[in-house]
Amino acid sequence: MILVTGAAGFIGSNFVLDWLAQSDETVVNLDALTYAGNLENLVSLEGDVRHIFVKGDIADFGLVAGLFAKHKPRAVVNFAAESHVDRSIHGPEDFIQTNIVGTFRLLEAVRAYWGGMEDEEKTGFRFLHVSTDEVYGSLEKDDPAFSETNRYEPNSPYSASKAASDHLVRAYHHTYGLPVLTTNCSNNYGPYHFPEKLIPLVIHNALAGKPLPIYGDGQQIRDWLYVKDHCSAIRQVLEAGRLGETYNVGGWNEKPNLEVVHTLCAILDELSPRGDGKPYSEQITYVKDRPGHDRRYAIDATKIERELGWKPAETFETGIRKTVRWYLDNQDWVANVTSGAYREWLDKQYGA
Ligand code: NAD
Ligand code: DAU
Repeated sequence: MILVTGAAGFIGSNFVLDWLAQSDETVVNLDALTYAGNLENLVSLEGDVRHIFVKGDIADFGLVAGLFAKHKPRAVVNFAAESHVDRSIHGPEDFIQTNIVGTFRLLEAVRAYWGGMEDEEKTGFRFLHVSTDEVYGSLEKDDPAFSETNRYEPNSPYSASKAASDHLVRAYHHTYGLPVLTTNCSNNYGPYHFPEKLIPLVIHNALAGKPLPIYGDGQQIRDWLYVKDHCSAIRQVLEAGRLGETYNVGGWNEKPNLEVVHTLCAILDELSPRGDGKPYSEQITYVKDRPGHDRRYAIDATKIERELGWKPAETFETGIRKTVRWYLDNQDWVANVTSGAYREWLDKQYGA
């Protein structure tokens, strides 16, 4: 039995689906179901006794302690977070609450549970914290990619809150001996990605005939990884990672945003051409830049490759094509998540 937090979100739901496709070990899914949490992602698990869903907050010590007492998981994988940089700029409070206070309370509940275990169980227990490359700040054009020894230099309220949570996880290992692991991953893309983030937003807006918003000059660089490859990295770190260590996870796929958007437009031109025969790239629109926008992220994934033998299965070319196909085949999912609350967000962010 493992406890996975935030498993109704984008990466967490992909993780649970992949986990149960490969193992019969039960997953307890603790998720607060914020705007980003969606049980529809897990509809294929309906009636499956290996998936136990609990609606709740990681900051609720009593609830989490009760789940530990009842289910006795051998590991916790913590995905639960506020994850969108632009939302953190409009309203940082939720990010402080979930990413910092929530992680702290979860760690406290884990510490109490782990402290009460027999020695053998204690040795086998793991707390895996899922974090981001954004904690390292922004790279210049010719800087080497982020390695695990890079200094933390977070620049947005989101990345600062994730950095704080990483520090707490580290401290619980050094101070209390808690058996922790941390992964710092680059930008994910793939199925069930909420259409507030660049790739699903562009696919959605393109098909809806709306502008494709490019912040600033569109030359900011992100290092893209197909979500299933992130999930396989987490499974491998959980299985064989060295306690107290951090592992950078990335796909060696650095791309400027504008290139990503042009690639999406070209695939859509081929798979679902516009009615008027014109290219989707005509919808590209330059908009005001994100305040404090990090220019470049890039992950050096040497450590996880060398120590754990992990490698991504998808290239950007194969992964992005699968992703566009998934969105074309799952327009109902998109229609359901682009609700009233979603439209309010678009008004706030893009003045649409
Ligand atoms: P997401 O926003 O899609 O999902 C987050 C999930 O957490 C949602 O289901 C939400 O309901 C849940 N949640 C939020 N607050 C909660 C709380 N207080 N208690 C319980 N559940 C709560 O995020 P994602 O993109 O799937 O990211 C998952 C994790 O991976 C995050 O920690 C994020 O920082 C990290 N990460 C994301 C990326 C990426 O590209 N998306 C890359 C690297 C790391
Ligand atoms: O690097 C890992 C991080 O990647 C994760 O920790 C975050 O949770 C995840 O949201 C993601 O953060 P980004 O800010 O990089 O992702 P986003 O999809 O919001 O933006 C990707 C790039 O595209 C970024 O440079 C901003 C730009 N952008 C984004 C949107 C939504 C645009 O140009 N236009 C847009 O409309």
